[in-house]
Amino acid sequence: MSEDGDRQWSRYYDKTGAHPPRRTLLFALDRFDAEASSDGARFAADLGCGNGRDTIELLRRCWHVLAIDAEPAAIEGLRARNDLPEGWEARLETRVSRFEAVELPEGLDLVNSSFALPLVPAPAFPDMWDGLVASLRPGGRVSCQLFGDRDSWVGDTTITFFTRGGAEALVNPLEVELFEEEEDDSTTPRGTVKHWHLFHIVARKPE
Ligand SMILES: C[S@@+](CC[C@H](N)C(=O)[O-])C[C@H]1O[C@@H](n2cnc3c(N)ncnc32)[C@H](O)[C@@H]1O
Repeated sequence: MSEDGDRQWSRYYDKTGAHPPRRTLLFALDRFDAEASSDGARFAADLGCGNGRDTIELLRRCWHVLAIDAEPAAIEGLRARNDLPEGWEARLETRVSRFEAVELPEGLDLVNSSFALPLVPAPAFPDMWDGLVASLRPGGRVSCQLFGDRDSWVGDTTITFFTRGGAEALVNPLEVELFEEEEDDSTTPRGTVKHWHLFHIVARKPE
């Protein structure tokens, strides 16, 4: 049983909100920085943003962010952070919603979803993924984790799991810039021992 079912996200936010941004986000941001032109504002969606571990990094770098989370406590926590950069209010839009129910704006530079994208039932995943890819501008990126089929949460029907081949097939229409598989036994931020099987992904939509 996953922790999502326990609806104890507030404890998770307390433990992780002040942690540094996820490596997948930083990898994607480095790629944007390495590209020659930076003409105007950049727009990202952060799906399952929690209380802003990644959103705040985007705001610090002057991105505009649509931050979505199903839990009101996440969005409240994000908006109440005391480390928001100057001018954040004009650059942050928030929604309390399941992200698979949101039609993302077109032309996004980045869709980031750290440890949240698989938290939809498998029947809803394909449409959600197609909508995500459609929302990216050519040259836009997705940075995310997927859960693998040896994760100890397998069997939870609220979560989507992928074989390595399935994850590769999902992202291969994009230009894959990072694809790392991880298996590890550890304790979650909320104290549950679990076997993680993850794919860390950054991919770029072809021009
Ligand atoms: C594991 S936390 C990750 C939070 C943050 N992205 C991070 O990296 O620390 C997952 C977050 O996704 C949210 N979430 C889970 N399923 C969701 C869904 N289908 N739609 C919107 N938010 C969801 C939860 O409320 C939670 O805040």
